[in-house]
Amino acid sequence: MPASQLRSLNIDNINPHIKEAKYAVRGELAVKSEEFRAQLQKGEGKDLPFDSVISANIGNPQQLDQKPITFFRQVASILENPGLLDSEEMLEKHCGYKSDVFERARQLLKDVKSVGAYSQSQGAPGIRQSVANFIERRDGYPADAATIFLSAGASSGVNTLMNVICATPQTGVLVPIPQYPLYTATLSVLNAKCVPYYLNEESNWSTDVSGMRSALEKAKAEGIDVRAVVVINPGNPTGGSLAPEGINEVLELAAEEKLVCIADEVYQTNVFQGEFHSFKKGLRDLQKSRKNKEGKFDNVELASLHSISKGMVGECGHRGGYYEMIGFDPEVTAQIYKFVSIMLCPPVIGQCLLETMVNPPTSSQPSYPLYRAEYDGIAQGLKDRANALYTTFSKMEGVSCQSPQGSMYLFPTITLPPKAVEAAQEAGKSADEYYCLRLLEATGVCIVPGSGFGQREGTLHFRTTFLAPGTEWVGRIEEFHKGFMAEFR
Ligand SMILES: Cc1ncc(COP(=O)(O)O)c(C=O)c1O
Repeated sequence: MPASQLRSLNIDNINPHIKEAKYAVRGELAVKSEEFRAQLQKGEGKDLPFDSVISANIGNPQQLDQKPITFFRQVASILENPGLLDSEEMLEKHCGYKSDVFERARQLLKDVKSVGAYSQSQGAPGIRQSVANFIERRDGYPADAATIFLSAGASSGVNTLMNVICATPQTGVLVPIPQYPLYTATLSVLNAKCVPYYLNEESNWSTDVSGMRSALEKAKAEGIDVRAVVVINPGNPTGGSLAPEGINEVLELAAEEKLVCIADEVYQTNVFQGEFHSFKKGLRDLQKSRKNKEGKFDNVELASLHSISKGMVGECGHRGGYYEMIGFDPEVTAQIYKFVSIMLCPPVIGQCLLETMVNPPTSSQPSYPLYRAEYDGIAQGLKDRANALYTTFSKMEGVSCQSPQGSMYLFPTITLPPKAVEAAQEAGKSADEYYCLRLLEATGVCIVPGSGFGQREGTLHFRTTFLAPGTEWVGRIEEFHKGFMAEFR
């Protein structure tokens, strides 16, 4: 009997849209790097030219030795084991717990009862209120807990929004290129249309609204019903951080063209140059301004997302996040509520960690000094490593890189010799894939080819995180690059 008839499912009869989706950050190179890691762990990698694998392919802070913030985990430890509340004295004396840890744990337990219980579909009400307070402090405008949905990381929020927006195969969503492939992959799975707009590399990967407008017009002419625009700020993979004027331009486009604006702001605390400006504040400022004469901005629909995965928190394995929904029709919000209810609720421990992130110890509380020191130490470490990597890239032949502005990544352009491009073709790979594969095989450093995020025709890039500790691995990239360029000169 042919293999395809042995089972119900085979590669030709499963959902074709799953097959179409591409997600390079955990693709072939990542799989290969894990094989190398397993080999080395078993002591079998004697013939490999490196003795460790560096996963610079994904923004996974704690896998790369970023330490969890003590306050967050002390609270979480009590939530997981509430019996510890009977041993407060011992924990204070011997484990460095402070009184505000117990207070917070009690307050959260009151809200969720147990982290082993389902919460409300939208997330525990007290935690949503904390998120609303955080947004209010951040932006200087009120936020309403009823419009906040907690989620299993920002990914789950994006998935929900896209599921609701993508009504037909002709539904389109404007997506920045380069982009984090969650967006293109989700659109593929939902059989909807990605409408790409290109970011401006020359001006620190800024958003070019005229480019967005032409992408939109072209899509409309092709019969695509464009319903939403995604902005990733600060950017992944680019690190670019938007100024208020750039945010206003996008909101104006959203208002004029009736597009839902999806602001992915998961890197809002990873900002090295200038300050983070939220889309929510941008929208409220516009609504109050003279530009809103005829109520142009009154009905803009904005969904802005945040997460516990990034920043100095880095709790991505706990899967927590939220999105705030501004200006949506209540009937649509009710359908979103129903949709998330089908998944019951986001992980409750992730919700609680989100609460500690949005409501950290304040200066009068006993956990504050350590919290501050840990937070600032991580922020400084990231900044130093970003700058060290940038300095190295700036010295490398054929590599040009925008200075680090935000997020956890650098995304340099590489210009490879024509012979390297030919060798890539012979190997059946794109030139940037070939470069990244050779780098992995030679050094154990795993990075992601620019083609995994989209790039302008005729350009080549790679993305690396700057999360891995130390600089030895940066030296490995530099050495490899010299050899690679010499080989194909
Ligand atoms: C821009 C962007 N959005 C969303 C996510 C997903 O984050 P989460 O872990 O919160 O699902 C990532 C993860 O790398 C990201 O880079």
